[in-house]
Amino acid sequence: MIPYGRQFVDDDDIEAVIGVLKGDWLTQGPSVEAFEQAVADLVDARHAVAFSNGTAALHGAAAAAGLGAGDRVATTPLTFVASANCARYVGADVELVDIDPTTLNIDLDKVPATIDGLVAVHYAGLPVDLRQLAVRPRVIIEDASHALGATTPDGPVGNCAHSDLTTFSFHPVKPITTGEGGLVTTNDDELARNLRRFRTHGIERRTDPPWAYDVVDLGFNYRLSDIQAALGSSQLLKLDRFRSRREELSGRYDERLAALPIELAPAPPSGFVHGRHIYPVRVEARRALFDHLIEAGVRPQVHYVPVHHHTTFDHLVGSWPEADRAYDRLLSLPLHPTLTDGEQDTVIHALEEFFS
Ligand SMILES: Cc1ncc(COP(=O)(O)O)c(C=O)c1O
Repeated sequence: MIPYGRQFVDDDDIEAVIGVLKGDWLTQGPSVEAFEQAVADLVDARHAVAFSNGTAALHGAAAAAGLGAGDRVATTPLTFVASANCARYVGADVELVDIDPTTLNIDLDKVPATIDGLVAVHYAGLPVDLRQLAVRPRVIIEDASHALGATTPDGPVGNCAHSDLTTFSFHPVKPITTGEGGLVTTNDDELARNLRRFRTHGIERRTDPPWAYDVVDLGFNYRLSDIQAALGSSQLLKLDRFRSRREELSGRYDERLAALPIELAPAPPSGFVHGRHIYPVRVEARRALFDHLIEAGVRPQVHYVPVHHHTTFDHLVGSWPEADRAYDRLLSLPLHPTLTDGEQDTVIHALEEFFS
């Protein structure tokens, strides 16, 4: 079966992990610090704080920024639930804002001016153009789980040019992997301090006596391990190669599928580099095509069942017609750095066969 997403791990990655296993630190230590510095340098951010996964990173970002009870936090319905749940974790209310069908990202024109927080998800790796936001809410978090390696006219995604914090996920299908893992970038010293405290039980170190520490806030154990961070630093060296291959494969889909009755994945506007995390097309008869691809040995995916379709969001009031219209037709075709031209040809032939 040709999977929709897959990690690429080579001998260098394995050596890096073995190096840590032979050393003194397994949990958060010097390899986490080195990984954080490498990501901060890459995305041009002042601080990077690693977390145990992308969901914890979002929780940390919402808490560090002071979102809480009484706050209204907007996000897109077309995302993984963690983008919305981070508001609920801190007691804030989620407000879904419909998508722009051209980009499949949140429609910034529809974000209420009175909102307290915004979680802007760079869907599929296409950055939300935050310059277009008419009124800046108190807190802007970019959920860049799909978008490590993407850039905007203001620089790399993660530099927080128009946000307070940016979160990443390093789940195996993401742009790079640490197994499970996440990270938050920010340029604000206080937010960085809050993030570090939140990820380690709310603890602040004291110097006297030498063993002293104080738990000043409610926090969690959301730490990344040095084992994972070593993998992350090694993967980061390959990010350019990964993204270029994803770009090449996306270009081949664009070209080879152009004549079929398929709405191709959204292209980036000029000045933007797309992260190319997934290749989401829109088709009629999506279910029949899904089954046909499975029979042909191809495992597509659907990103995502919209947030408001889930039982736990039954309390949300409103309608999000563009997200529903997109969801009815969405299908993500296989896209990952290990996908060979031959495997992609298999996917394309299966699509041609379906529409012939
Ligand atoms: C848009 C988005 N946000 C958040 C997450 C959560 O990341 P993680 O799986 O690392 O917790 C994911 C990953 O599935 C995601 O795709």
